[in-house]
Amino acid sequence: MKTDTWDVALEEKLRGHRARAGVVGLGYVGLPLAVQFAQAGFEVTGIDVDEDKAAQVNAGDSYVLDVPREKLMPLVQARRLRATTDFSVLRELDTVNICVPTPLRKTKDPDMSFIDAACRQIATYLHPGMLIILESTTYPGTTEEFVLPVLEKSGLRVGEEFFLCFSPERVDPGNVQYHTGNIPKVVGGVTADCTRLGALLYQQALAHVVTVSSTRVAEMVKLLENTFRMINIGLVNELALMCDHMGIDVWEVIDAAATKPFGFMPFYPGPGLGGHCIPVDPFYLSWKTRQAGIEARFIELAGYINGQMPHHVADKVQNALNEHGKPLKGSHVHILGVAYKRDIDDLRESPALDVMHLLKRRGARLTYSDPFIPRVQVDNLDLSAVAPEGATAAADCVLIITDHSAFDYARVLEQARLIVDTRNALKGFSSEKIVKL
Ligand SMILES: NC(=O)c1ccc[n+]([C@@H]2O[C@H](COP(=O)([O-])OP(=O)(O)OC[C@H]3O[C@@H](n4cnc5c(N)ncnc54)[C@H](O)[C@@H]3O)[C@@H](O)[C@H]2O)c1
Repeated sequence: MKTDTWDVALEEKLRGHRARAGVVGLGYVGLPLAVQFAQAGFEVTGIDVDEDKAAQVNAGDSYVLDVPREKLMPLVQARRLRATTDFSVLRELDTVNICVPTPLRKTKDPDMSFIDAACRQIATYLHPGMLIILESTTYPGTTEEFVLPVLEKSGLRVGEEFFLCFSPERVDPGNVQYHTGNIPKVVGGVTADCTRLGALLYQQALAHVVTVSSTRVAEMVKLLENTFRMINIGLVNELALMCDHMGIDVWEVIDAAATKPFGFMPFYPGPGLGGHCIPVDPFYLSWKTRQAGIEARFIELAGYINGQMPHHVADKVQNALNEHGKPLKGSHVHILGVAYKRDIDDLRESPALDVMHLLKRRGARLTYSDPFIPRVQVDNLDLSAVAPEGATAAADCVLIITDHSAFDYARVLEQARLIVDTRNALKGFSSEKIVKL
């Protein structure tokens, strides 16, 4: 085939849903995406280094809450979706979406090792007519400065023989209204043909696709979105600390402000930031801008304020117990919800872990309930979830960290002696037992 026709050949395969689609990294992002492509009629192969995950997918079992077994199983049975740990299948694939983790190192520098490992494997099997799209959240410049040189080692030319894009993943686990299929997808390629083909792939499977002029713009879009959230949460957390000193109910303030029909968007305070994205991603941006001598001051400040919240919560529990004549040391604190947000099974970066660590260090006895998280390790303490019934009655203080909808809050209020509520989960209830953030 002439080198200038690879884009035409791929375009035809994409339009006819004959392209063989691959997804590297079958986690919270990759598995729903693989399912979405398979539902659109593509033959999809997921590749993961985790053998258990590959085996579970092939058995039609889902480990991601947003992908019910009833959705996965028929796709596996129809041979539209399969998973493997063998990267040599890349030889047969036409498109590859990379959805591997991008954590921060302890020093808050980006850990690019997962992207690096995935790209090296892809480079080994890269063949003409292939479309590669990076979806992992990362610093602006990654696709062209980091991924492209690895892929070009294959000797193939981008924009002619293979095509490369960045498309930020925006999935919001647990969100029943917006999911992979209907969240608008932003995509930017290294060349105009890359962008066109990247957009074409997504248009076959997703409701809205938005193209931008470059991979850098697409990378920055994601960081703007997550930095926007992180900074606004930092602002309301600082407001919560101020209101606490002034005896003002911060939740009432925010709800009233949110009645303004323009120019205001409510964000809510809480026990600290959690998850794989909001506490992590903005530091990708500050790391990158630091190299250019620009300090990302909003990010650092919000990071500092958000990082103080677990301490504030531990203080709240201690003070509330003191007022009830009980020292924190030796008291039983029962925690409701440890996942990083409501109705999901993800413990990564959860502020519950920081709060539990602080309470334990101050001598509290800890138990917890969480319908999604069966076990938690805090320092050298291994805890198993217990039923809320009973534990809330037995505890000296109940601490609401994650406001899962499965909890019976009226019953909690009835049983508990003292409740510290960091999420306004008891909105609408009034009792002297309740201490709000
Ligand atoms: N979880 C979210 O809500 C969310 C939202 C938007 C963006 N993101 C971003 O998407 C990316 C993936 O996040 P996630 O939450 O799906 O992570 P995850 O940890 O749930 O999944 C990542 C998967 O990649 C696999 N993996 C690791 N190294 C690999 C390799 N070299 N080759 C193949 N597979 C490999 C892991 O085994 C795991 O199954 C991250 O960059 C994250 O920041 C996540």
